[in-house]
Amino acid sequence: MSMAGKLMHAVQYGGYGRGAAGLKHVEVQVPSPSKGEVLIKFEAISLNQIDWKIQGGMVRPFLPRKFPFIPATDVSGEAGGGLAEYGVASEKLTVHRPPEVSAAECAGLPIAGLTAHMALTQSFGMKLDKSGPHKNILITAASGGVGQYAVQLAKLGNAHVTATCGARNVGFVKSLGADEVIDYRTPEGAALKSPSGKKYDAVVHCAPALPWSVFKQNLSTNGIVIDITPGPWAMWTSVMTKLTCSKKRMVPLLVEVKDENLRYLVELVRDGKLKTVIDSKFPLAKAEEAWAKSIEGHATGKIIVKP
Ligand SMILES: NC(=O)c1ccc[n+]([C@@H]2O[C@H](COP(=O)([O-])OP(=O)(O)OC[C@H]3O[C@@H](n4cnc5c(N)ncnc54)[C@H](OP(=O)(O)O)[C@@H]3O)[C@@H](O)[C@H]2O)c1
Repeated sequence: MSMAGKLMHAVQYGGYGRGAAGLKHVEVQVPSPSKGEVLIKFEAISLNQIDWKIQGGMVRPFLPRKFPFIPATDVSGEAGGGLAEYGVASEKLTVHRPPEVSAAECAGLPIAGLTAHMALTQSFGMKLDKSGPHKNILITAASGGVGQYAVQLAKLGNAHVTATCGARNVGFVKSLGADEVIDYRTPEGAALKSPSGKKYDAVVHCAPALPWSVFKQNLSTNGIVIDITPGPWAMWTSVMTKLTCSKKRMVPLLVEVKDENLRYLVELVRDGKLKTVIDSKFPLAKAEEAWAKSIEGHATGKIIVKP
């Protein structure tokens, strides 16, 4: 059935800033797919910190390309358009959802799941079929959207996983498979010290910035830190560790959406090897509450919006 000319509910913002107060409920035309694109009826969308950081002007002037803008990237890894009943996406990047996997479980995968997967497999070179050598890995903010996937994927790769999170989530992060969990508000947690004295071969750093000295003392000889929110200091450290040929390195990461990796993650969920832990679900009519919750930064797992 053609949707051309039909109206849909969407949420958009008209300029930079204002957080949840800047969101507005509107009725707009259902978008028409261009060549190579498909029209998708959304069943679930997950929010990511990048969504409200774009609203805050973090990647100005590249995004948004124009106002008003319908935010939320986690429908196909595309830049925006998610907080609506329908959207268009590149056919190449669209992966079929098997009936065994719920829409909400799939909605977390494009940004958060792919970031965790890319950090471990591409940046660190880990094999998730347990065929590689045993490694010690630290995952910071393991209770968050990216961290929850990183813990589970690192365990699939047979790593010893140390994780940081707040005290209330220690049991939850252990249930994901982490071997050792430290509360980030304790001195040991702040210093990223493994309770059993392990040195880390890789750190998937999902928490706010920390000085290089904190990481360095905990790394094994060739240990790397994969920083998924690299600020100016992390970028500087990355350049310096490269220029000085340091064996311990800082590696910034920006997620790349690849359909084969997305398909792999969907299959892991279908096979019961990976789960999406859902923090909360909101109807599209209450999208601003979901937005505010994401900005607070205390989600356990993914925040989902359902049109
Ligand atoms: N480079 C990329 O392509 C890429 C892709 C995805 C995400 N990111 C970035 O990665 C970061 C994490 O994203 P996310 O979606 O996982 O965030 P999130 O889901 O909002 O993370 C929230 C969780 O982090 C925990 N947390 C906060 N500060 C912590 C700390 N210092 N130590 C340990 N845990 C802490 C919170 O625990 P409490 O509630 O107990 O405080 C909460 O459970 C964000 O900055 C995001 O922008 C980058």
